[in-house]
Amino acid sequence: MEQLKLRIYPDPCLGKKAKEVEIFDKRLLSIVEAMSELMYINNGIGLAAPQVGLSARIITVDVGKGLEVMVNPSIVSRSEKSDTMDEGCLSLPGLAIKIARPTIVEVEGRDVCGNLIIKKCEGLLAKCIQHEIDHLEGKLLLDYLNPFQRVFAVNKKRSSQNKKL
Ligand code: NI
Repeated sequence: MEQLKLRIYPDPCLGKKAKEVEIFDKRLLSIVEAMSELMYINNGIGLAAPQVGLSARIITVDVGKGLEVMVNPSIVSRSEKSDTMDEGCLSLPGLAIKIARPTIVEVEGRDVCGNLIIKKCEGLLAKCIQHEIDHLEGKLLLDYLNPFQRVFAVNKKRSSQNKKL
């Protein structure tokens, strides 16, 4: 299995747009296995490949209904209705930011074998998939904040990390 390490902000990998996966082979499967293991070990409900330093459009998600893996995912439709949720991120430890996102999304992508998946997602799954697809674009929760809120959030994060000494 691949040896992968979780990347924490401000690691530059987190700010880059990830590349499309073109080859569906054993290496991809091995990356997916390592990513899901890392996600579970860290009590995450979602993980995107840039968070382990890989420029590849791969996400793993488990919101309590089993592991879901999507390769080259993209959102093909969004509900007009949005709602907000406090979101955390494995790459931003100690931080929770209220984010408004569409309530329902339809996502298209591939499974690890390259088969087409089209999926309607709602609730926590919809939020999580949108969050992970943001990672593939190099976008973090902090990018939803204005510069003032951002400085405040990062400082707050530092202090909450300090408490864990
Ligand atoms: Ni995240």
